[in-house]
Formats: sequence, structure tokens, C-alpha cells
Amino acid sequence: MNTEFNGLVSRRDLLRTGAGLLLATALPPLPARAAGSSEYRIVAVPARARLAGDSRPETDVWAYDGIIPGSLVRLRQGEPAHLVVDNRLAQDTTVHWHGIRLPNAMDGVPGLTQPPIRPGESFVYEFTPPDAGTFWYHPHANSLEQLGRGLSGAVIVEEREVVQVDRDLLWFLTDWRLTEEGGIASGFGNRMEAAMSGRVGNTVTLNGQVSEDEPVRAGERIRLRLVNGSLARIMALRFEGHRPSIVAIDGQPCDPHVPERHHILLGPAMRVDVMIDMQGEPGRRYGVIDDFYDGLSYLVTQLAYDGSPPVREHPLDASLDLPRNPLPEPDLAAIERHDLTLQGGMMSGMGGMQGGGMMHGMMGMVGSPTWAINGMSMSGDGHAGMEPALTFQRGRSVILTLRNETAWWHPMHFHGHSLAVLSRNGKPVPHRQWQDTVLMAPKDVVEVAFVADNPGDWMLHCHVMDHQMAGLMTVLRVA
Ligand code: C2O
Ligand code: CU
Ligand code: CU
Repeated sequence: MNTEFNGLVSRRDLLRTGAGLLLATALPPLPARAAGSSEYRIVAVPARARLAGDSRPETDVWAYDGIIPGSLVRLRQGEPAHLVVDNRLAQDTTVHWHGIRLPNAMDGVPGLTQPPIRPGESFVYEFTPPDAGTFWYHPHANSLEQLGRGLSGAVIVEEREVVQVDRDLLWFLTDWRLTEEGGIASGFGNRMEAAMSGRVGNTVTLNGQVSEDEPVRAGERIRLRLVNGSLARIMALRFEGHRPSIVAIDGQPCDPHVPERHHILLGPAMRVDVMIDMQGEPGRRYGVIDDFYDGLSYLVTQLAYDGSPPVREHPLDASLDLPRNPLPEPDLAAIERHDLTLQGGMMSGMGGMQGGGMMHGMMGMVGSPTWAINGMSMSGDGHAGMEPALTFQRGRSVILTLRNETAWWHPMHFHGHSLAVLSRNGKPVPHRQWQDTVLMAPKDVVEVAFVADNPGDWMLHCHVMDHQMAGLMTVLRVA
């Protein structure tokens, strides 16, 4: 389904023309979308970006609309969206709308759900998002390199009702591996890395730039949408002097709660919405620190209070609860159970694995895959003829027991559905958490439940991109 579409021009396209430049200086900035519509035209294109500050060289990237992160896509819950993607890269691509429960043909997995978008061609994605929340989009073709070179952006699906906050902010966090000269380091698909923690970089950007501080005002309540768009970096964010409450995970509202040990855990591809009452002192700065890797804590940014007096004396007296999304409740009385066991990687050995016909070389590298699910390895990005590991009758309630038998962390992602996280290592998970990406520590056993209500073949894979490419992927069918 390749189509030409002439209706819309992005702000970026406008700015490229002289007239656009004039307009842009004469008028206030255009909104990120055409007024009153959910229509976008998004161009995947090589570009240059200043990721690490003015004193550092620019970086050659691949980017949606030429900007890092890509254009913010704002949709409305229950309203049809029309998104045209133009491929101006020199290789095939697709777009996956991560976390959005949409029809299978719109899921963006090349071969499995659509033909790849060839260079110079376009594809129209059309769907009606059932859930409000924070989502994101990225390629599902040559994913490790395309995501690693910058192709990603946020999708915000607005609630039907107004959520009472002073400001609604997005922090799109991305990890990069940059060279001294400011380029993106080569070596995507390094087998050693793929068998360990994946390609963790050396530079973390917030909304496309290394951030020293983010301005805030005393007394305001902020809804902060955190997105971890990294290839492999896991984050554990701590807000000095503040108590953020988690109100949604992976777009799905949960019972508002202050996280354990005050760290917000964000695996690759995860999103967490928090509410923060800015109770700091005017004029002061407070660090936002990522403590995930032992001994490698760093400042993500600082909350920088301006000098003005608090906008209100006491925290805003409004509920922290977000309106619930229309998720189907699994029927725990009539449920079917399956196990998915994650295997492989360094320090485990993959004895007894049978890859057989399911093996595909990763990115042209020959050799057997490093990872497996239930003894089978699917690698790469998705392609035709992937046989499902499990088939569910449409409408069935399902519990999956995910067992991480490896020595590594894995953010396990399922397409097309949201998963109720029931238990972790035998303990019930509180706060009614639904997720599309479930972060598993080494040896974790996690039970998730869902209603298989969305027909089609759906990917389930680790979102550490090197792990996905090297075999930590499977397909589940809803028939
Ligand atoms: Cu965000 Cu199949 O991935
Ligand atoms: Cu996805
Ligand atoms: Cu993994």
C-alpha cells in the first residue's frame, strides 16, 4: 500500500522554503499539527543535529522531519489518525507506533504486517487510538541502526477530559554512542555486545540535546512524560528534593504511587508519566540523576527554579488519577496459561536450543543467534513466514509466565496489546500496572495477563535492540 499524499506539509518542510522562513519570523510558531486534525506527514531523512551542546561538533543523524527527536505526534483518543510516512533514506524502513493498540496491518513490521517502505516511497498509516497516554514511534526495519542513528519520536494521545496540571512536559530521553568528532560510532551489531547488555552509549540527550537544566517554577504541578528511546540503556531516575508520583506506565494509567526507593525505572521503550509538585526553593537547582548502572551515576539534567515566589501556597488540590483507558479485563476464571522462557546470552550457554528453520542471519552476519525464547530464535526485524510460537483464539484471556533464565536485563515488549502485570517472582504487583514493555531483571519470573482481542500476528521481543536482532523475538498469533 504505497500512496502519494499531498494534503499536508510539516513545519519543517515549510521552514525549508524561503517563504516559510519569512512566515516563521513574522508569526508565532505553528502548532505541531494542523488545527483540529490528526493528520501528519512525516519524512524519514538524513539530517544534522547538535546533540551535545554548542561547543561540540554536529552529528550526522537519520531523523523524522530532520529533527531529534522526530516531530511530536499529537492524536486524540478515539479520533481517526492519518499519518503519511515518506522514506527519504537510502534503505527500506517502516514505522511502528509503539504501544498503540491498532489494527495489525498498521503495526509496521516489515514482511509480517506490511511491505517495507522503499527509498523514495510512502506509506499511509491509519488507525484510531483507543487509549490516551504517552507512546512513541520508531522504525521496525534495520531497527538497531535506524533507531541508533536517531529515528524516533513521541506520540501523545490526549485524554477526552482535561487533566488538571500547570504544565504538561515531555522528556524524550535518548542514549547515543558518539565519537570524539561528534559522529555516531560504527559497529552496530557487535556480537559481543549483543550477547551482553547491548549497545549502551556515552551521551544521553533530553529532547534531542544534552541538558544542563530545565526551567521550573515553585508551586506548579507538572505532568512529566518520560520516554526512554534508547537502544539499550536502562535508567533509574531520582529527583533530588522531589517526590514524583507515577500516574501511568507505558501510556496506561495506574494507581498513583511514589516509586520504591524513589527511583523511576525506565527500560528501553518504556514510558512513565509522573506528577510532580514543585516544592523546591525559588532560585535553587535540583539534580535529576540516573543511578541505574553501579558506579556510573550521572546528571540527566537539573530542575532549575526561577527566582519568582511560589505560584501557589499549597500543592494543587486536584486528583492525581488519570482517566482509565478502555482495556479489556482478562477473565481470570477462564484463562489459558503459557510459558515463555528467555534463554541465551553470555554466561548461560544455549545447550539444547533448536533454531532450525527459524534462524536468520543478523544484519548479514552469519553465525547462530545468541538468544532464544522457548528454544527458538527469531532474529532481525520481522519478515514474511514467521511461524507463531503460540496461537490464541480471539477473545481468549491469557496468562503468560515470562521466565528470564539469562544473566541479563530484558525489556520484553508485546505488540498490539497491553499486559496487566500480575506478579513478579511470586509477589503480586500493586497499583494496577498495565504495560506493553515489561522490564525483567536477571532470573525474574513475571506473570502477565491480557485478552487476545486484536487479530493478527504480533511480535513479542526484547527492546534492547541488539537482543531483538540476535534472536530474542517471537510471534504470537491471535486468530
Ligand atoms: Cu517498539 Cu517491536 O517495538
Ligand atoms: Cu511495539
Ligand atoms: Cu534483552
